[in-house]
Amino acid sequence: MKILIINGVNLNMLGSREPNVYGKTDYAALAAELVKFGAEVGATIDIKQSNIEGELVNFIHSAVGTYDGIIINPGAFTHYSYALLDALKAVDVPAIEVHISNVHAREEFRHKSVTAAACVGQICGFGTESYKLAIRYFVEE
Ligand code: DQA
Repeated sequence: MKILIINGVNLNMLGSREPNVYGKTDYAALAAELVKFGAEVGATIDIKQSNIEGELVNFIHSAVGTYDGIIINPGAFTHYSYALLDALKAVDVPAIEVHISNVHAREEFRHKSVTAAACVGQICGFGTESYKLAIRYFVEE
């Protein structure tokens, strides 16, 4: 089981960015924790991050033929990126959308995800555990 985790815009700022919302774990520590968790449950995890929409599209395309699943946190692109929606639809690799915060309990613009429609489902609000729940789904599925 090979899983590609894709993190979008501003997620490289974890740890210092609004810690009351996103927690104090920094991006490098999160990435290391997810690789370790993956190994424990039988998944090989690769993690990529970009603040550039087109690079995220390229990451999604690159999953074809190499990965069994994509876990994506597009950051704010979630709420308006039709390019990411189309990229997720264009590949035959199942994706799960995750969010650290509970987007539905926040500002109204965060309630809408344009990308979730191309995903198996959305997991949000469990802090960085959201990623582990998604990994577990792919492993058990
Ligand atoms: C986020 C939620 C988004 O609304 C926000 O723009 C982010 C992070 C989350 O993980 O909670 O950058 O995707």
